[in-house]
Amino acid sequence: MRLVLLGPPGSGKGTQAALLKNRLNIVHISTGDLLRAAVAAGTELGKIAKATMDAGELVSDELVLQLLEQRLNEPDVANGYILDGYPRNLAQAQALDELLGRLNQNIDHALALIVDQEQIVARLAQRAAEQGRSDDSESVVRHRLHVYAEQTAPVVNYYEDKGLLTAIDGMGSIDEINQRLCDAI
Ligand code: AP5
Repeated sequence: MRLVLLGPPGSGKGTQAALLKNRLNIVHISTGDLLRAAVAAGTELGKIAKATMDAGELVSDELVLQLLEQRLNEPDVANGYILDGYPRNLAQAQALDELLGRLNQNIDHALALIVDQEQIVARLAQRAAEQGRSDDSESVVRHRLHVYAEQTAPVVNYYEDKGLLTAIDGMGSIDEINQRLCDAI
C-alpha cells in the first residue's frame, strides 16, 4: 500500500499518518521530518534548508528529491508507505512519478484532508505555544497557507485527474478523521 497524504499546513497529515502507519503496517515518510532531522544534525543540506523552512517557503525540489530518494531506497519501505508533505508542487509530482517508475512502484491512493483556514491557524497557534516550532508563528503560518494555495493545491488536481484522489473532511476529532481515512482506503 503506497499512499500520498495531501492537505495544507496543520490539516493533520502528520497526526493521521502516525495512526495509519500502525493500522496498515507501513512506514510514514514526512519530508518535513526528514528536513528537520537534517537541520538538527547540522548537515550541509540542513544548513541550506533552515532559513527557507523558517520563512515558510519550499526547499528546492532537488534537495527534497535527494532526501526522498535515499529514504525510498531503505529496506523498511518494502511493505508500503505514506508520503506526508511530498509532492508539494507539480514538478515534484512529476519527479515522484519518474522516481517510482525507476523503482517499479506506483501510488495506490491520494487522500486530501480538507480543513477550514481558521481551524488551521488555531491548531498551529496551539502547537506554537506548546512546542515552539520555528515556522509556526502566525505570520509564517499564513505565508505557508499562501504557498500551499499557489503551489501545492494543483497537486490535488493532478491526482484527481489520475483517478486516485479521495477528499476527506479533516474537521472533527482525530479518531473521527482517522476512521474516514480508513473507510476511504
Ligand atoms: P511540513 O513538516 O510538511 O509541514 P506542513 O505541511 O506545513 O504541515 P504541518 O506539520 O504543519 O501540519 P500537518 O498537516 O502535518 O498537521 P499535524 O498533524 O502536524 O513542512 C515544513 C516545511 O518543510 C515546509 O514549509 C517547507 O519549507 C519544507 N518542506 C517539507 N516538505 C517539502 C517538500 N516536499 N518540498 C519543499 N519543501 C518542503 O497537526 C498540526 C497540529 O494540529 C498538531 O499540533 C496536532 O496535534 C493538531 N491536530 C491534528 N489533528 C487535529 C484535530 N483533528 N483536531 C485538533 N487538533 C489537531
